[in-house]
Amino acid sequence: MSTPRGQFSSRFGFIMAAAGSAVGLGNVWGFPTQTASNGGAAFVLVYFVLAFLLAYPALMAELIIGRHARANVVTALGSLSSNPITSFIGKGVGYYGVILAGLILSFYTIVAGWMLSHLGHGIANVAGMTTVSQWLITSSITRDLMGSVIFAGLTMSIIASGIEGGIEKWSSRLMPILMVLLVLLIAYVFTQPGAMTGLKVYLLPDLSQVLKPSLLISALGQAFFSLSLGVGTMLIYGSYVDKNENLPKLGAIVTCVDLAIAFTAGLLIIPAMYVAQHSGTVIFNEAGELITETGLIFQVLPSLFTAMGNTGLWVAIAFFALMSIAAVTSSISMLEVPVSTAVEKTRLSRLAATLIMGSACLAISVLIIFNFDLLFVFVIDLTTKYSEPLLGIMFCIFAGWILQRNALLQELKQGNAAIESSLFWKIWPWYVRVVCPLLIVATFAQSLS
Ligand code: PHE
Repeated sequence: MSTPRGQFSSRFGFIMAAAGSAVGLGNVWGFPTQTASNGGAAFVLVYFVLAFLLAYPALMAELIIGRHARANVVTALGSLSSNPITSFIGKGVGYYGVILAGLILSFYTIVAGWMLSHLGHGIANVAGMTTVSQWLITSSITRDLMGSVIFAGLTMSIIASGIEGGIEKWSSRLMPILMVLLVLLIAYVFTQPGAMTGLKVYLLPDLSQVLKPSLLISALGQAFFSLSLGVGTMLIYGSYVDKNENLPKLGAIVTCVDLAIAFTAGLLIIPAMYVAQHSGTVIFNEAGELITETGLIFQVLPSLFTAMGNTGLWVAIAFFALMSIAAVTSSISMLEVPVSTAVEKTRLSRLAATLIMGSACLAISVLIIFNFDLLFVFVIDLTTKYSEPLLGIMFCIFAGWILQRNALLQELKQGNAAIESSLFWKIWPWYVRVVCPLLIVATFAQSLS
């Protein structure tokens, strides 16, 4: 416990790190495809409303607990109350978060490894190395292992360098690059035939779909995953925020950046699909639905890049670089959850903790790769569908019921002296106590039925 804790050195650094965690494969891949298969702009509308009504308050719960406790997720939840039972439950919830973050990282690493392989494919193509480039896009255990090991290595090397020198430095460098790549790709795709058809599908709402329960559930799940909620990542990032910062404002900025990038990614992906259709690629499956899962990223879009000829080589590199960057700024936030816990709960150095925790997660990735059909979808469902909402409720309960109202107010007053008379203080405390848990339970129950 004697190691001094790290801290983000600036507001910009925190915003880039937290937005980097939030903006990931969930935004660039999940959001556009869910939009396409759930009534276009109707989904965007519902998603935005839910993100502000439910995900933002839950994000605040994590940030506030984190900054108040200034500790890893286990110690933080265990120390909110002096009651031994509550403290015991808090620690249990904390350990569950640590395991969950590790499990999400394990499957995320495999998917990110695919992105790296496709990036390598583009580079090998430009360099004229045809055999290598072909191998990189041919599915095999060796290729998947290689991609995962390299990606895990990248994640570990950033985390080993600490908060300011690793997470903040790399998020602040990579997030602007991600935004530039996104805009350049959109500008290019918009000049291609077919793009405008896609834009219409994306932006014209099919309002008959707005209140469909399945749409609401997908939108809520997507909002939670996208804001990295329910695993303690935002809690631990919150614990590195300076006490002088205005937390509700920072949380709102992070939510807006996450939404803006998800929306912008939709402007790229959906029109690109229709450009692909225009150039002869099949974009609907036999059931007449848009191809969304792995088929979209690894078949539809690559065949579009091929149809674009020489320019397509560069577009492919830019696209998979964008995906890889989105993945790494999220994966570091996942690994920080177990690493911060190990550093603060044992005598391990940050380097040793990173190597041990990172290798343990990689070992699970390897296990999944060798038992892909059995484990891949199972781990994704277990973590994102069931565990994240459950833990999300626990974080809201701990912030709303266990953390004393007075302690909450004191925490928020640092960085915003006038908070007591603000709208946030009038609404958020009871909202996070009652409305958030109830709504999450309702959605959770629906998704089980
Ligand atoms: N928010 C990330 C994404 O959109 C995923 C994530 C989930 C990151 C949980 C951290 C924790 O891809």
